[in-house]
Amino acid sequence: MNSQDLMDTARALVADDKGLLAMDESDPTCDKRFAKLGVPQTAEARRSWRELIVTTPGLAEYISGAILFDETIRQKKKDGTLFVKVLVDAGIIPGIKVDSGAKDLAGHPGEKITEGLDRLRERLAEYSAMGARFAKWRAVIALGEADAGVVAYGDEIPSMACIEANAQALARYAALCQEAGIVPVVEPEVLMDGDHSMEHCRAVTERVLLEVFAQLHAQGVSLEGMILKANMVLPGLTCPRQESVDEVADATVRCLLRTVPAAVPGVAFLSGGQSCELASARLNAMNARFKSRLPWAVGFSYSRAIQQPALDFWRGDSSRAPEAQRILLHRARCNLAARRGEYSAAMEKT
Ligand code: 13P
Repeated sequence: MNSQDLMDTARALVADDKGLLAMDESDPTCDKRFAKLGVPQTAEARRSWRELIVTTPGLAEYISGAILFDETIRQKKKDGTLFVKVLVDAGIIPGIKVDSGAKDLAGHPGEKITEGLDRLRERLAEYSAMGARFAKWRAVIALGEADAGVVAYGDEIPSMACIEANAQALARYAALCQEAGIVPVVEPEVLMDGDHSMEHCRAVTERVLLEVFAQLHAQGVSLEGMILKANMVLPGLTCPRQESVDEVADATVRCLLRTVPAAVPGVAFLSGGQSCELASARLNAMNARFKSRLPWAVGFSYSRAIQQPALDFWRGDSSRAPEAQRILLHRARCNLAARRGEYSAAMEKT
């Protein structure tokens, strides 16, 4: 492992106020989104959609790295050019999702453990040879219902068993990535589904991040050569009280300052089901209010909050591709502006 190379790649992923574009939906997730829009759920439709994304003119002005899925890293443009080459030629760093998904955690109903460590060393070597320079692994942490009525210690969701198992898997994945010369994007996602309060999300996110960094330390992961992909501290989607943009920015930054070591080059948020506009506005508020005082870059690694409006417009119709690319580029531009604290609702009218 060359730690200088890892550090350089990690810094390049958050440089110049650009961000990551997550286009690593698994086939079933991509198909589910296609089904809602009447797009055929085929490898060719997924290939066309991904070709539209990677060939968007000017994307590299706003996007530093793109996260691919196993199917996508092997796919090509209609003219036979591998997507990886299209990205590299444009100046976008190719990345790869390497976990194999969240499965039920035995003995803990309602909780998940992310799998994918088996043969990971061999798979990373293959992806590295294909051009991937960073990777992603997503752990999901669900929050229990606010009125679930916890009756005994250990009944609550998330359980420590779930947090510890996922944190350890993330750390083992990150160590294997760095051994292979690949920057790990470490993603413990506290889900926003549910009616929990923002304060509950803050407390759980803090606990999760403390455990993740303890496990990263235990596994000898270089903090300088990784990116944290985090959730914002948010009220549950169905919580009656929805805090303001500034309150979310305050709570998120406070939580990160208490948990994320200054050696980490960047925190890139997932959008997690927020609207595109809120994902941009909340990121903007964090940078507008705190950027000069934060030890790490605060950026984005959005999938839905960049792709969804373009996908909704495209609907599998090739004649709509140029306008869909314009819509995609607009979201990327809004989020670069948010990294600079220069995003405003007025941008949505352009
Ligand atoms: P969303 O931005 O749609 O939450 O996706 C980000 C991601 O890659 C989750 O792993």
